[in-house]
Formats: sequence, C-alpha cells, structure tokens
Amino acid sequence: MMLFPTEVFQYVACEASMKKTFAILLGSIAFACLLGIILPWPLTLLHVVWLQGIIAALMSYLFHLPVWQVFIHLFFFPVLLSAVMLDLPAYWYLGGFITLALIFGSIHRTRVPLFLSSREAVDALAELLPRDRGFKLIDLGSGCGGLLCKLARILPRGSYLGVEAAMLPCWISKLRARLSGQNCRFHWASMWQHNLTGYDVVYAYLSPVPMPRLWEKVCREMRPGSLFISNTFTVPGVAPDQRIQLNDFSGAVLYIWRL
Ligand SMILES: C[S@@+](CC[C@H](N)C(=O)[O-])C[C@H]1O[C@@H](n2cnc3c(N)ncnc32)[C@H](O)[C@@H]1O
Repeated sequence: MMLFPTEVFQYVACEASMKKTFAILLGSIAFACLLGIILPWPLTLLHVVWLQGIIAALMSYLFHLPVWQVFIHLFFFPVLLSAVMLDLPAYWYLGGFITLALIFGSIHRTRVPLFLSSREAVDALAELLPRDRGFKLIDLGSGCGGLLCKLARILPRGSYLGVEAAMLPCWISKLRARLSGQNCRFHWASMWQHNLTGYDVVYAYLSPVPMPRLWEKVCREMRPGSLFISNTFTVPGVAPDQRIQLNDFSGAVLYIWRL
C-alpha cells in the first residue's frame, strides 16, 4: 500500500504512472458524460460529478493504482464542484494559487515537492559529521531550513549553507537563521547554479527525477574525499558506499557516497 511521501514522490516522478492517472481521468469523464446522455432518467451536474468520481475510483482500483489515488479520483471533482458552488470571490483562488507558488516554487519543472527531513535524519547526520573540527556542508533544496539550523545547534563548528528555489521556505529559513544566531546561511537560488567544489558534505533530499543529473554534477564538482548524502533517493546504477536505515515515520534511508 502506498501512503508515505516517499512513495508519492516516486509515483509522481514516474511518467508512465502519471499517464495512467490522466488516462483514467479523461476516460471516466467521457464515460460519466455518456451515461448522462444515454440513461433514461435526467441527471443533475452533481450526479454526473459523483458518477465520474466513482468510475474513476473503480478504474484506479482495477488498474492497481495506489490507494491514495483511488481516494483522490473519488473526491476530486465533487470537491471542485462544492468549491464552485460556494461562489467565493475570485481573489480567494488567486490568493491560494500565489500561496502555493510561493511554497512550492516551480515544482512543475523541478518535480521536487517540499517535504522535511525527520529528526532521525538530523541525528544520523550529526553522528557522521566531525565534532572536533570545522567542515562545510550544503543542503541542496534546503526547504524551511530546519535540517541546517538543528545541525548547527548540535555541531556549531560546521559552516552551513542552504540553497532553496522556492521563495517562502527560503524566507522562513533566513528568518530562522537570524533569530537563532547560528552559523547557517540560505540563498534563494537554483542548486544547478551553485558550484559544489568547496564543500566537505553535500546533502540532498529531493526526488527520483533530478538524481541522475545531480550525480553528474557531484562527480564533476566535488573534491575527492568529500561526502555526498542523499536522503531516500538513490542514484540509478551507482551503489552507495554506505546506507543508514532511519527509524522514522517513512522508514527513510540515507545513501552515502565518498567521492
Ligand atoms: C524534500 S524538500 C527537502 C527540504 C530540506 N532539505 C530537508 O531535508 O528538510 C526539497 C526542497 O528542494 C527544493 N528544490 C527543488 N529543486 C530545487 C532546485 N533546482 N534548486 C533549489 N531548490 C530546489 C524544493 O523547493 C524543496 O523545498
């Protein structure tokens, strides 16, 4: 059963799965409209919308889609119709859209949603990093900055930089770093524009989509002896030097490569 964010990432990143989802959506709309035309009794819009939801949910189940997809298909159009019936002023929708864009940035391009490393991931990283000397660590896609701020509290000798493409999480990180007074900096930028040469440790918690390109960047730019650590997502075809199984809510694994 697919319920954890990791599996949701993997599903969304897989083109074939997304094509299946869209095929079910279009097929169920067509089928519900057809039923609306051929059935001998008149159907209201609400009936057609629920009919579409039930057909789509059934199709998702029959095509072995994950359970969360069945529920999304069942409720997607009924919720949409309810929202339309509420007759809210248009600026509410604009506000919602802008808020989501600020939180998730250009997720349609990066295919990396915002999700945060667990406390267990922070503790496992702290065990790996040196306590007795300084080091430079970068978090590629640093989200709201929690990982770096927590690490900086445990290991104050380190120097920490977060690079985050989405605006609101980056502002939150900057505020957090300022209020805590720790040795963390955050840049609102794309990780693809940032050179990795000067870092002892590069940490990433992204999605399956950028991993092959990121590995090329890591091999091109990181120094011999430095560490590349990926939470949850492996590099296809490149075995890690070490794996750390985390005992967190999603059973995540830290994959570690020494360059
Ligand atoms: C799964 S979150 C991880 C957050 C944080 N690193 C942590 O572990 O708690 C991934 C973040 O990467 C950001 N991101 C995705 N693509 C990016 C890119 N090309 N450059 C910078 N940030 C990116 C997303 O906006 C998202 O906030």
